[in-house]
Amino acid sequence: MEDKKTFYITTPIYYPSANLHIGHALTTVMADTISRYKRMRDYDVWFLTGSDEHGQKIEGTAKAQGLEPIVYVDGIVEGFKKLWKRLHISNDDFIRTSEERHKKVVQYIFKKIYEQGDIYKSTYEGQYCTPCETFFTERQLVDGNCPDCGRPVETLQEESYFFKMSKYQDRLLKHIEDNPEFIQPVSRRNEMINFIKQGLEDLCVSRTTFNWGIPVPINEKHVIYVWFDALTNYISALGYNTDNEELYKKFWPCDIHLVGKDIVRFHTIIWPTILMAAGLPLPKQVYGHGWLLLDSGKMSKSKGNVVDPNELIDKYGVDPIRYFLLREIPAGADGYYSEEALVQRYNTDLANDFGNLVSRTVAMVDKYFGGEIPAGDTPGEFDDQLKELAARTPFEAEPFIEKMDFANALSTIWKLVGRANKYIDETTPWILAKEESQKERLGTVLYNLLETIRIVTILATPFMPLLPAKVSQQIGQDLTGCKWDEAKEWGLIKAGNSVMKKEAIFPRIDPKSLENEVKEEPSAPKASIEPIAEEITIEDFAKLDLRVVEILKAEKVEKTDKLIKLEVKLGEEIRTVVSGIAKHYEPQELVGKKVVLVANLKPVKLRGITSQGMILAASQGEMLEVLQLAQDLPTGSRVK
Ligand code: ME8
Ligand code: MG
Repeated sequence: MEDKKTFYITTPIYYPSANLHIGHALTTVMADTISRYKRMRDYDVWFLTGSDEHGQKIEGTAKAQGLEPIVYVDGIVEGFKKLWKRLHISNDDFIRTSEERHKKVVQYIFKKIYEQGDIYKSTYEGQYCTPCETFFTERQLVDGNCPDCGRPVETLQEESYFFKMSKYQDRLLKHIEDNPEFIQPVSRRNEMINFIKQGLEDLCVSRTTFNWGIPVPINEKHVIYVWFDALTNYISALGYNTDNEELYKKFWPCDIHLVGKDIVRFHTIIWPTILMAAGLPLPKQVYGHGWLLLDSGKMSKSKGNVVDPNELIDKYGVDPIRYFLLREIPAGADGYYSEEALVQRYNTDLANDFGNLVSRTVAMVDKYFGGEIPAGDTPGEFDDQLKELAARTPFEAEPFIEKMDFANALSTIWKLVGRANKYIDETTPWILAKEESQKERLGTVLYNLLETIRIVTILATPFMPLLPAKVSQQIGQDLTGCKWDEAKEWGLIKAGNSVMKKEAIFPRIDPKSLENEVKEEPSAPKASIEPIAEEITIEDFAKLDLRVVEILKAEKVEKTDKLIKLEVKLGEEIRTVVSGIAKHYEPQELVGKKVVLVANLKPVKLRGITSQGMILAASQGEMLEVLQLAQDLPTGSRVK
């Protein structure tokens, strides 16, 4: 029997110095998504998270609350575990650094490195604030005084153990240079290379000024530096150096240490040099993702601007929060959180694009076929385009997921959602329904839509683990536990099964109207169309300068019910355009859309706003639709 391929991924072990916020949730949800994806691709996955419980800060926080450190951390760590459960995090283990299994390994590694001569005793010199009982470096001082209490400091020496990190500098640099995948994304790699080239100093790896830590095995007066302790979790959790090293042998070296960019340095300098000294293999990759920022800057406990994931789950549900985090943060770069942006994403991508696709399709199977899924054996126009994109989508999403570029993975999958919605408009099932002779063709159109929904659901499963169960109920086929490759086959929906109309999977969030009903299909267009205009030449047409623009902002123009003011991006330029589409679109659902602008139209003033161009839209009777690009092209592209 062939052994399965293995995949080991870790998150940072978070400090229980306070409750977790959505920044921590971002990392853990990312790790969960790639874990679920790998499992769907038949990898043997080990996914580790945990808590980093030692150190002066946590000791202090516990004391301030009149608690023993362990009692204090027990409470907070319980909250970590609950949150991960609520977010459907599929971790295989949760390591706490206060556990015996961890302490033993940390002490073993410390001793091993000490005995071979890479840890030595010396004196640590620093600026000491006696009232605060804390050492500071020169740079941390504020006007030469303690940064915490402002009182003068004195130069003091503390006996400490040092790790000969400097000795491994050249080997580390060579390793980073020889292994381009070791630090990702590339920007982080370059930062680290520059940092190391400035020279590594030996690292102070023990402290005597507090007790809440793992004792140095050869000198009980000292506790081991919290990062030396914490980083070792990645192998202690696998049972390294115990009677049962099965997991260690199977999963080490780790495939990805996923961390935020704040702690890349610890993972790419301290951790690899410790492993080198201990004679152990290095992790294959450290991936440093960007910050989740608020408009008010970085989330931090001291600023009091943290966003509690639990509150968001209560309000919006698990899948939407996960979707937002994964869709909104560009790979490797920083991203912004706001509740507004969350609701907007939700309404556009989930409620409108996907949710409506499901409810419209199910409603039509209900209405035209009494709920029984028809056979899909009467091909017709537009089928090939839909099927071709469906066949390509899994293959296009894969490399993005592998690179942890979840935003692009989701936008790739959502192009298929967009294509399916377009297919409804193209095939006009409500017109087919009028002709008995078109019944089989109508059946095939609906079959193809259900099939696309099935494929999208499978592809979206790693991101939104609750989705399959919800969609299954409606389309009458169990999509839970599917393998990724089932999305690569066409025709797995079983004709004859019954669909079940249920409430919307993602009910629209609209403070004004609480209607969550299935959107009616548009009424059939009138038979006669507007007469065709007078003939023009190609030169006449060339006078029109049509360009692709992206809608950056949209808001209703006050005191009108027709006008929306748009800000659109045209290359480097931002333009204001007033458009008469307010009866057909909510402003927020327009944002992010790529549309076509008549870019050389003479500006006009509407309600006091200068409109610099016009957005193209198609209309017929009561229906109106803004023209959109099905494929992504840069703004400024010419339409001709
Ligand atoms: O550093 N945006 O723990 P920690 C994105 N115990 N990610 C964020 C974030 C934000 N605003 N805020 C936090 C520690 N994170 C150590 C780790 S590992 C051996 C020891 C995430 O509780 C991100 O992954 O301060 C960051 O690296 C981590 O939380 C820091 O968590
Ligand atoms: Mg931190």
